[in-house]
Amino acid sequence: MCGICGYFGAEAVKKVCDGLKILEYRGYDSCGLAYVGDGKINSIKTLDGVDELIKKSEGLSTEMVIGHTRWATHGAVTLNNAHPHFSASKKLVMVHNGIVENFKELKKNIDIDFYSATDTEVFVNLIEKESGSLIEKVISASKKVKGAFAIIVLSERGEVVLGKRETPLYLSTGEKGVCVSSDVLALDGEKIYALGDDEFASIENSKILFFNKNGKKIVKKCEKIEKNMNFSQISFKTHMESEIFETKTALIKTLKKYKNEDIFSLIKLPKNFKSVVLVACGTAYHSSLVGAEFFKSIGIDARAYVASEFRYGREILSEDTLYIFVSQSGETADTIASAKLVRARKLCTLALTNTPNCLLNRVCKSVLPTFAGREVAVASTKAYCCQVFSLYLFSAYLAGKRLPTVQTLKKIPLLEFPREQVEDIAKFEKVFFVGRELDHLTALEASLKLKEISYINSVAIASGELKHGTLALVDETSIVVAISTEKRVKEKLRSNLEEIKARGGKIIVLSCFDDFADYDLVKIEKFADFLMPIVSIIPLQFLALRVAEQRGFNPDRPRNLAKSVTVE
Ligand code: G6P
Repeated sequence: MCGICGYFGAEAVKKVCDGLKILEYRGYDSCGLAYVGDGKINSIKTLDGVDELIKKSEGLSTEMVIGHTRWATHGAVTLNNAHPHFSASKKLVMVHNGIVENFKELKKNIDIDFYSATDTEVFVNLIEKESGSLIEKVISASKKVKGAFAIIVLSERGEVVLGKRETPLYLSTGEKGVCVSSDVLALDGEKIYALGDDEFASIENSKILFFNKNGKKIVKKCEKIEKNMNFSQISFKTHMESEIFETKTALIKTLKKYKNEDIFSLIKLPKNFKSVVLVACGTAYHSSLVGAEFFKSIGIDARAYVASEFRYGREILSEDTLYIFVSQSGETADTIASAKLVRARKLCTLALTNTPNCLLNRVCKSVLPTFAGREVAVASTKAYCCQVFSLYLFSAYLAGKRLPTVQTLKKIPLLEFPREQVEDIAKFEKVFFVGRELDHLTALEASLKLKEISYINSVAIASGELKHGTLALVDETSIVVAISTEKRVKEKLRSNLEEIKARGGKIIVLSCFDDFADYDLVKIEKFADFLMPIVSIIPLQFLALRVAEQRGFNPDRPRNLAKSVTVE
């Protein structure tokens, strides 16, 4: 997580601040910048976001700036722990994204008084202790570091060196100077270079030299990288609200792309294709669970795994399986590590991502893009719907089914959860989401949305499982939201709700069936089965958003979280 950015050329302060504003989705615990001025390195840091950093750096003019926006891993959220970090002599300063896994061991051998609790301070002092030129020092220190990193190091003499391993770093050159950033969207310049793992670069007078891990100069070609991810222009009060309202446009765009371009036929399938394994984190894991059901419904065995478990698990990898890695950002560390594991066995890997040119796309053999446009809010909404939809469309393609029409998608209602029920739910400290089959999977995602932005303790459970334990928690301090769009099991769900009611539990039902009219019913329209996970999650996303607002929280910036999780 954390975003790093550097600019070397005219208007460097502005360029870095503009870059950090875009990178804030990677963490917003603190931010800061460092620059060379009067022959020494100075820094400005704040715990109050990039807008405050911009105010604090007003009037500052310098041509060498590095900046950072932090998601805390080592050390509390304090100014001391905020980046950039200095070496003991103050001759070097560094911004860092990643984790130095062996930082404790390395720290023991560096005999200085550390001012912060960060692994970054250890890393920059490790660099300082090495001998040779700055590039030589950085390369040899990096060899001693275990873990993923992306770094920019600036010396008081104005030398700049950067490098990376397993987390992204890009450079661009333009008329005014050289820009470095964790994300292409924050680059300023036309010619773009993507640094590979254990590759390094030095920048001198707008000239970039690239090096491999042995310190040998290498030639890198500039790449054609799409920066245009459209929408999320924030037409409502928050990004989250704007993004929910963009869902339909995103689905239509995805469908049109798949219909007009040869995307599915380019996907490399295993020879005796028998099964699908989906691997992902967070919301993308929930869309993978739904996707697995789509594959099963066309006779392809399918399972979904949480990436952090899969990468260390005992899954038997097999040649007849297609491994699909689902990720909005395409940067999630555990998902990428899982994909690398499978790729190393030369098995079929497919990246289902929403970000062009992301790391995951580079790791996997084939790519299935979603076209949700840029998603800024930490809580994923339109990207989730697009992932579910893409997985359905891919399964339909494999089964030789006709794809749905744009007309059908246009009819999907962007339904708000009724205000009265929102106010009701916001008062409770425990919210249970229940459902069966696909509705249970929707319940999982609805519960995640609610807890991550409103901080209400929420659990999702298959309603048939309630009486095996969780029912003990149902009392007057809790409310149950039941989802029912699965005709086959609606009576079964109803029995489960009766059991809750008998114990005095308050219930709200979100359903496309009138059968629940005797409950507090939020009625949704009935669409084809494959669309119901999308039709039903939209009001539940609104529910989470409105409850967060009601409780006075900023839904775009949930505490302790970040949009892009680039550490394990
Ligand atoms: C973070 C975000 C979630 C997201 C998850 C996986 O936790 O806050 O919204 O679902 O990462 O991200 P990915 O980019 O891989 O889909």
